[in-house]
Amino acid sequence: MDYLIEPFSRKLNRERFDCGEDSLNFWLMSQSGQQEKRGKTKTFLARRDTENNVVGYYSSVIAQVEASDSAQLLGVGTGRYPVSAVLIARLAVDTKQQGNGLGSRLLVHALRGAVAISEHAGLEVVIVDALNTDAMAFYRRYGFASFADDPLRLFVTLKQITASL
Ligand SMILES: CC(C)(COP(=O)(O)OP(=O)(O)OC[C@H]1O[C@@H](n2cnc3c(N)ncnc32)[C@H](O)[C@@H]1OP(=O)(O)O)[C@@H](O)C(=O)NCCC(=O)NCCS
Repeated sequence: MDYLIEPFSRKLNRERFDCGEDSLNFWLMSQSGQQEKRGKTKTFLARRDTENNVVGYYSSVIAQVEASDSAQLLGVGTGRYPVSAVLIARLAVDTKQQGNGLGSRLLVHALRGAVAISEHAGLEVVIVDALNTDAMAFYRRYGFASFADDPLRLFVTLKQITASL
């Protein structure tokens, strides 16, 4: 059994997805389709290669870190101008599949996507909004650091990503 990570498709079954966080389940079920259609977020879906059910996903969007916050970022920004970013707005794995490395695979997929974007347009950081301190600990394992005034918002620089991938 292997996992496949694919661009959003209505052909995959999102109904059974349960990561243990209602807000993330609800968003996938009820909002991801419209968001995709309007080009507001890009979502990638994970499934087992033998099944049609979604077992993981992430969604991301282009964002800016305000100048006041950019001064906090390691080696980027001057504190005078906003910093361009990819925001991983949501990332989740079905409870039955947690602990199998899928969360890590989804994160690496998202980071590789950011690197691809950075080869075509200016991009300095990837940021994530962790739901809680558990999720924060997950991101910290991958080199993300918290913003000083909001520990649940974390960032990693493109330089760090390209050095580690
Ligand atoms: C957080 C989440 C995405 C992790 O997914 P997962 O598939 O279980 O994670 P993986 O199996 O890829 O784990 C990768 C590594 O992170 C570690 N890890 C997993 N969850 C962790 C957590 N909450 N805190 C700290 N470390 C964690 C694992 O032990 C593993 O370490 P290892 O490589 O040394 O073995 C998943 O638990 C989840 O969907 N939770 C509910 C939703 C959520 O909180 N999303 C996060 C952001 S909004």
